[in-house]
Amino acid sequence: MQKVAIIGAGYVGLVTGACFAHLGNKVVCVDNDLKKIKMLNAGKIPIYEPGLDRIVRQARKKKKITFTSNIGPAVQNSDIVFICVNTPPKDDGGADLSYVENVSREIAKNLKRYCLIVEKSTVPVQTGERVYQTILDHVRGVEFDVASNPEFLREGSAIEDFLAPDRVVIGVSSARAEKLLRQLYAPLKARMVVTDIKSAEIIKHASNSFLATKISFINSVARVCDAVGADVEKVAEGMGLDPRIGASFLKAGIGFGGFCFPKDLAAFLHMSHALGVPFNLLKEVLEINETQKQYYVKLIEKVLWNLRGKKVAMLGLAFKGNTDDMRFAPSIDIIEALQKEGVTIQAYDPQAMERAKPVLRGVKYAKDAYEACKGADAVALVTDWKEFKDLDWKRIKKSLHQPVILDGRNFLSPQEMKKLGFNYHAIGRKAF
Ligand code: UDX
Ligand code: UDX
Repeated sequence: MQKVAIIGAGYVGLVTGACFAHLGNKVVCVDNDLKKIKMLNAGKIPIYEPGLDRIVRQARKKKKITFTSNIGPAVQNSDIVFICVNTPPKDDGGADLSYVENVSREIAKNLKRYCLIVEKSTVPVQTGERVYQTILDHVRGVEFDVASNPEFLREGSAIEDFLAPDRVVIGVSSARAEKLLRQLYAPLKARMVVTDIKSAEIIKHASNSFLATKISFINSVARVCDAVGADVEKVAEGMGLDPRIGASFLKAGIGFGGFCFPKDLAAFLHMSHALGVPFNLLKEVLEINETQKQYYVKLIEKVLWNLRGKKVAMLGLAFKGNTDDMRFAPSIDIIEALQKEGVTIQAYDPQAMERAKPVLRGVKYAKDAYEACKGADAVALVTDWKEFKDLDWKRIKKSLHQPVILDGRNFLSPQEMKKLGFNYHAIGRKAF
């Protein structure tokens, strides 16, 4: 059992803290958002993440996890401190590391005995050195280590990803730090990749960049499929069965969103330029992703002919299924482009509507998918929520103004939709 402090109780910090508590450690989660801490202390979870409420509840009952906005005592009483604050993108694509710097200083001021400080937030390579120097400049006569332990938690399956990981990456500069992290992760019996701090930092950026590249790759292939009437789903299947390629992250659609891929790619690209080794492939990956949203809007226009005065039912808003996260959701740009052309949007998302409201203006929010579809000229499916597969599509067809489906996630069965009499369109699937 170790005493662990988590600084930043967001999507990553809260999952990390809850899972370490679940494994039997004593965890304190710190956040400077007082509202969030109040909610957590009242037993409420500020985000939608399947399974998180259950493990937080159990850990609270066993007194394994607490929440506070007071960083001092949390650091003073911990053996390991994880930095999980956000690292938002700046206008030039670089990562804003001011929160990481502030937190490092606060940690330094409160160190009273040896402590291991771990960067878990995704940061550009060499941030570990900066964190180390910042702490060194403010600490008084106390030994400490800095380590990197990047997260590979997909929102929507973050608990599973944490408790049954493909690998745990730790970047360390001392045997003591390695031992502490190995002990902490021992119950998971995971494959450990132990390396220096800079390599660990690069593993994170390179992994997300590679996955995003696969998505832009298949989206480009989808455009070729559209041009000739081939089926990208079959192409992806045929490619993915080659273990050198792999089947995952070859789902064509409206492009990637979320708070990791777009910002991590931009930060990696920015860093490569700063280092004098421009990684321009990533520029193209980002460009393909941006134009993929326009590609989808063009498809909607092609199918609906005139956009002005049309009503579109948006099924889904979140950047992917199983989350309420709207950060960099493709739906935002798609909806704004359609509204500009005079389209009325009737939207439904099982979890993300509250987070969407401050971001998306002029949208009619429906209580369920059926209400969203009533009287619409087309259904635009933009988030892969499982419940959309299970809808009563016969009922939806009756309530639509015209039976058009624009499946931005290649999520529904074209054969079934055609059988039901829909005019069904998807990305790179003209063969039906
Ligand atoms: C963040 C990083 O942005 C991401 O790059 C990294 O991989 C994991 O951590 P996320 O957990 O999704 O991602 O961010 P968010 O949900 O915004 O959580 C960050 C939390 O830190 C917020 O609750 C915020 O209130 C808190 N915070 C921020 C602090 O407690 N102190 C600060 O100084 C800044
Ligand atoms: C990502 C990383 O996968 C995870 O390891 C961690 O680093 C955090 O960032 P996350 O952003 O939660 O996780 O979701 P992910 O499942 O990776 O999907 C990202 C985006 O790509 C979503 O918008 C998703 O819809 C899209 N996507 C994913 C595709 O368009 N096609 C695919 O084949 C896979």
